[in-house]
Amino acid sequence: MLALSWPYRWGCARLLALQGALMATTLGALGLSGVGIDVVLFHAHVANRPAAYPFGFRPPASWSPLAEVAFIAGLILLLAVVRGLLNYVYAVESGKLIHEQIVVELRARVYDKLQRLSFRFFDAQTTGAIINRVTSDVQSVRAFVDGVIIQLVILVLSLVCYLVYMLRIDAGVTFACLATTPVLWIITVVFSRLVRPAYDRTRELVDRVVLTLAENIQGVHVVKGFGREDQEIAKFGSTLQAVEDQQQQIFWKVSLFTPAIGLLTQLNVVILLAYGGWLVTEERLALGTGLVVFAGLLTQFATQVANLTNITNSIQQSLSGAQRVFAVLDAPIEIQSPPGAVRMPKAEGMVRFEHVSFAYDSTAPVLRDVSFAVEPGRCVAILGATGAGKSTLLSLIARFYDPTAGRVLLDGHDLRSLNVDDLRHNIGLVFQESFLFSNSIAANIAYGQPTATRSQIERAAQIACAHEFVSGLSEGYDTVLGEWGMNLSGGQRQRLAIARAILLDPALLLLDDPAASIDPHTEQEILEAMHRAMQGRTTFVVAHRLSTLRHADLVIVLEQGRIVQVGTHEELLELPGHYRTAATIQGIDLGLRTPSKLALQ
Ligand SMILES: Nc1ncnc2c1ncn2[C@@H]1O[C@H](COP(=O)(O)OP(=O)(O)O)[C@@H](O)[C@H]1O
Ligand SMILES: [Mg+2]
Repeated sequence: MLALSWPYRWGCARLLALQGALMATTLGALGLSGVGIDVVLFHAHVANRPAAYPFGFRPPASWSPLAEVAFIAGLILLLAVVRGLLNYVYAVESGKLIHEQIVVELRARVYDKLQRLSFRFFDAQTTGAIINRVTSDVQSVRAFVDGVIIQLVILVLSLVCYLVYMLRIDAGVTFACLATTPVLWIITVVFSRLVRPAYDRTRELVDRVVLTLAENIQGVHVVKGFGREDQEIAKFGSTLQAVEDQQQQIFWKVSLFTPAIGLLTQLNVVILLAYGGWLVTEERLALGTGLVVFAGLLTQFATQVANLTNITNSIQQSLSGAQRVFAVLDAPIEIQSPPGAVRMPKAEGMVRFEHVSFAYDSTAPVLRDVSFAVEPGRCVAILGATGAGKSTLLSLIARFYDPTAGRVLLDGHDLRSLNVDDLRHNIGLVFQESFLFSNSIAANIAYGQPTATRSQIERAAQIACAHEFVSGLSEGYDTVLGEWGMNLSGGQRQRLAIARAILLDPALLLLDDPAASIDPHTEQEILEAMHRAMQGRTTFVVAHRLSTLRHADLVIVLEQGRIVQVGTHEELLELPGHYRTAATIQGIDLGLRTPSKLALQ
């Protein structure tokens, strides 16, 4: 936390200097009013000691009492003006430092880090938690610098100043008045222990609110389709209620703490009046520069101590948020290029799995001892039931995760030794559901290569069978898509995704069942787009359709993370097993059509 505040040390130092000057003016004004009272008392012959001016100053003997009082009043006024100016400068400076610099820069840093983090990090977090980290938790760090570090230094500095000043006036009175301080300390410590867990819990609850909101908006079709609006409203209401209940608990605690501190400081004033008043009547303490100034100091002291409540509260509040920001900033980046990484601007496309096993967490492995090799330019089809590990296998090729055991090689290099950016530039990806940004169609196709020219974009779209429908739109390639590409059909979105992958001209193409959620009419177009896209690249395609499987040079059948069958379409049709079953289900009458005939179709 302190390390994070370090870049802002000069800004903070300036603020502190300003605070020091502000304090000097306060103390100066207080001291001068004390002097004023003593001057009046002396001239009114109530007191028989002349007023003690600071710095050994003596007013010229020619000054009338009125001139002397006017002089002091003038000085106090001057200090008030200076104080006003300083307060203004302080407000401007602190606003600049805290709101402009710290918050903005920290958000940028968290966002930057989020882009680099591996999938494992995102697997472990909900969307709500991640959004909260970039938005509200970052504010906690600001609150820490603003409400804790600066306030704490001011507190310590001013307490020391007031204490020294008080001791100089009268040590006995000082000690008598501050006898309650240890009790204060104990209360503060107990309070912090009480509220910290409560603030942590609040943050989790707020994450839930954001997550509920995000899911509700993303799943608006499901919500409306199933007529669940009322339940959704109730669900959101209950998450809000949970936050409110939690806040109330904290509020109760804070509400008890503040008056307790206030009571203790009032006790101090009572002690002063009794003990200090007696000293004044005994003429052992001046009324103005002694008792009045002391009372003023004690009030200031009490204000600062009361500030302790706010600071303790802020520490707990901001630490629990800041901790979550640091969890992001300090999270290890699992997938990154090793030092001296192998550069690979253009891969050949030879892929090898050597005894690869993989698990997302400590539970059952998702891939077990997977080995195979693929020559450049070949097409591999992966078949298997839902949850068999097909998508996982593809994500290992793109190095979204590292294998738990064994290794994945591209052109003979272990993926872990390659430059990650180079690796990803060699890979074109199309998922089951494609994410499109709310930007123009051209920009979406060129996402992986923003420098692409319009003719390159159009060529990619042509290969992906997307050119025709894009040209049909009134604004063509400049049509801006709605959020998540909502104003396109599933088939159109997938074709844009294929164009996006082709534009990179990747050596490897990973197609994770792009036709899965497409209606049979458009499916044919997707399949055609896929087959054209595969030309000249090593392709891994998760597919269930025989039409795709037939094109493959190699078919891998996965079952619970293991390769149970591997071979060409023809070979596998000969063997009993998953593949032949799947083929039969798709209406191929093996008795009537021979495999070789099938391959010709
Ligand atoms: N990010 C993840 N974290 C934890 N488990 C996962 C994750 N993704 C997939 N799994 C699990 O791994 C198994 C294989 O998933 P996946 O590779 O997506 O299967 P397929 O694509 O063949 O349907 C499933 O049991 C699934 O629940
Ligand atoms: Mg899958």
